This record gives sequence, structure tokens and C-alpha cells, in this order.
Amino acid sequence: MYPTVRPRRLRRTAPIRRLVRETRLHPADLVLPVFLKQSLTEPAPLTSMPGVLQHTRDSLRRAAAEAVAAGVGGLMVFGVPSVRDAVGSQATDPAGILNLAMADLRAEVGPDTVLMADLCLDEFTDHGHCGVLTADGAVDNDATLLRYREMAVALAEAGSDMVGTSGMMDGQVGAVRDALDTTGHTDTAVFAYGAKYASAFYGPFREAVDSALQGDRRTYQQDPANRREAAREVALDVAEGADLIMVKPAMAYLDVLSDVAAATTVPVAAYQVSGEYAMIEAAAANGWIDRNRAIAETLTGIRRAGAQIVLTYWAAEVAAELSAGRDFS
Ligand code: PBG
Repeated sequence: MYPTVRPRRLRRTAPIRRLVRETRLHPADLVLPVFLKQSLTEPAPLTSMPGVLQHTRDSLRRAAAEAVAAGVGGLMVFGVPSVRDAVGSQATDPAGILNLAMADLRAEVGPDTVLMADLCLDEFTDHGHCGVLTADGAVDNDATLLRYREMAVALAEAGSDMVGTSGMMDGQVGAVRDALDTTGHTDTAVFAYGAKYASAFYGPFREAVDSALQGDRRTYQQDPANRREAAREVALDVAEGADLIMVKPAMAYLDVLSDVAAATTVPVAAYQVSGEYAMIEAAAANGWIDRNRAIAETLTGIRRAGAQIVLTYWAAEVAAELSAGRDFS
């Protein structure tokens, strides 16, 4: 007796496996998050994210040009200002570091690459929270929305194609959409962090943006235990006018990603965050896993779960491999 049906037939050779592969990585699906730090005169490597730099304005332009040459779909820019205050003034100053960077990058890459900026105050506040605080130290939702409105306009004027609303304030997508529309920026898209969890995997990001945060973000970011709540958050964002929806982090939230992809018709993205990157680099540096295979497997898994777009610190490297025709797996 032999099995009539043999799934292994389709796994026998690499060309057959390639033919029947259901999910593929493509450079244009990958977005590279980048950090720019105002006080630097030389780019600075990040200890907790081997291979990732805090850039100067010049090195950022070069890194952007390289990523674009590799074929990445876009860049997501984070700015680290030299001066921080309670309301994050530098976020809305046209001469603030993030706004300058957007203008630099637009000049460097021209109109053909998608430029996105993180629309959040945490890099700009001296207390490190994503919004402004009330007298008793709570994050003030509605006062923060007023700052996000101003920040959205500043970023649009600096050349951002999309603003990534990552602060998890209630009503932020609607507020930002309204601010953009009433100032003539009707074409600037809102890339909404629809489901964003209070995650330990943002750890290395704190080093990347020199975060001043004491405490945590659990009063505004979601509880990792909640799946249905993500559907509610995403529905609100879409109703408020989100053009794209992001799920973040990625690997510990693939169920959420799959739900979101099934429930919405807007493009869905996932952010493979700093701790996900650090974890794989650290294990690979110890010789415990095969680095490239692990990277490919996680990116493929994130795509397979429903993300059309993936933000990853490996975007430029993986895009270069794929563009060179190498099968990155
Ligand atoms: C908020 C923001 C964070 C990240 C992206 N946008 C930090 C946070 O929410 O605590 C984390 C990204 C990463 O860890 O790679 N500005």
C-alpha cells in the first residue's frame, strides 16, 4: 500500500518549491525605519541594535539613497532633538530636526519614494510620554490631539507623504485628518497604528531615541492580552479616515494581524520592532540561529499572516538581496 497523495512531491526540488510558494518577499513591500539625532556630528551605532545607526543629517541622506537604490518601498523617519520640553515644541517647529530631515530626504530621493514620519511626541518631550501631561502627570488625550494636529501639518509641509500616528490617543486619526484637510494637505495620507500594544519589544528603541521615559505607556497603548480590542481600535481608525493600518509589534501579534487583514479593506502593515530585530541579531551573533534564514522566515511569516507592507530594520539589506535576484530564504 502506497499513499496516493504525496505532498512531498511539491517539495522535492528548489524550483518546484519556488513555483508553489504562496508568499513572496518583494523590496517594494519593505519600509525602512531610520533614526536621526540632532546633536551628532558622526553617525552613532546602537549597542542594542547591532547594524543600526543614529544618523546625522548627511549620513541619513546617504542611507536613504542606498535604501532607495535597493528598492525599498519607503522610509519611516524618527527624529531625536537636542532640546526637549513638556509639550515637545521641536516636533512642530519647521526648523525642528524631524521636519528638516523630511525636507532633506525629499530633496535627496525625489518624488519617487514614499516618505513617512512618526507622528508622536515621545521623542520630543522631556518626560518621554507620547503626549502632553495634566497637572497630576496623566497623559492628556485631548490636549495631545491639538499638538498632533500641529505636528501633522508641519510634517506635511516638510514633505511627508504619510504621517504615522503612533501615539494611541483616542480620536487621533480624525483629528489629524481634519487638521490636514483644513490646511490644504488633503493628499497627505494617515498611516494609522491601529493596533499598537504596550510591548517589551520596544526596549532597544528607547536607546535609539534616547528616551527619557519613566514608567510605561499602559494607559494608552493596548494590553497584550487583548485581541478583540484591536478590532475595535482598527474600526475606529478606519472610520476616522485612516488610509493604511499598522499592527505593532509583529511577531507576537500575528493573530491580530490576520484579524485586521480580514476585517479591513485598507492596506495593512506590520512593524517588526526594535526588540524583534535585537533578539534575532543577538541569537545569530551567538551562533544559535541562522541569521538570514531567521530574518526571511519572520518576514515571510508576517507577510503570510496578512501584512502587505512590513516595516523592518532589515529592509535595505533584504531589499538589496532580493533586488540582486538572491532568494533570501
Ligand atoms: C512611538 C513609537 C515607538 C516605536 C515606534 N514609534 C515607541 C513606543 O511606542 O514606545 C517603537 C519602534 C520599535 O521599537 O522599533 N513614537
